[in-house]
Amino acid sequence: QHTTIIAPSLLAADFLHLADAIQMVNKSEADWLHLDVMDGRFVPNISYGLPVIEQVSKACKKLRDVHLMIEEPHLYIEDFQKAGAQVLTVHLEACVHLHRTVQQIHSLGMKAGVALNPHTPVSLLVDIIGDLDLVLIMSVNPGFGGQKFIPHTLKKIMELKSLVQSTGSKALIEVDGGINLENAPAVIQAGADVLVAGSTVFHSKDPKSTILALKGQVL
Ligand code: DX5
Ligand code: ZN
Repeated sequence: QHTTIIAPSLLAADFLHLADAIQMVNKSEADWLHLDVMDGRFVPNISYGLPVIEQVSKACKKLRDVHLMIEEPHLYIEDFQKAGAQVLTVHLEACVHLHRTVQQIHSLGMKAGVALNPHTPVSLLVDIIGDLDLVLIMSVNPGFGGQKFIPHTLKKIMELKSLVQSTGSKALIEVDGGINLENAPAVIQAGADVLVAGSTVFHSKDPKSTILALKGQVL
């Protein structure tokens, strides 16, 4: 039984003190750093982009897990690789030629992830699951941090877990949105391998022990 991977989302950090946020993550038991890119088109919000990720990547010792909430992500794959992305996740809803996009991500040496909005069924992954390193299940509507976890997500995580097991896929199951110390055990129990947590980590008094607690390893 491996321990759950924790990926703090930088979206909830203090943007005036990003260096402090990165140092905290470096010193913590977090495994990955989750970076949310929003274009104001695919989602109704704009976050940060390439120059910020490039600088953050230089300082960050943890794996950079970049979540693209943008239209036409295939146009920017090489840019994000150069900026330091190691896992690159695109939304299924944003990709007409998803298989090609996944191939492009792999050809640049990155792990490839596909994200599903809350209303998008897991069954749409049947013909791509074998090519994926990660599936990101959105447990809120993408666009904003600090939203409430949608309970229906638990059923989707279980469906994805059985799809992964029945196909022998190596894809990790990542869950993103509204994760807190109360619902994390149920999300892990349902089959999550990676938990993204923004406000729960960065708005807590002691982010490093919150990260441990999310793993189920309370100090
Ligand atoms: C939402 C983003 C999430 C967000 C999570 O669109 O994809 O990664 O940062 O924030 P919390 O954990 O606060 O819900
Ligand atoms: Zn995200």
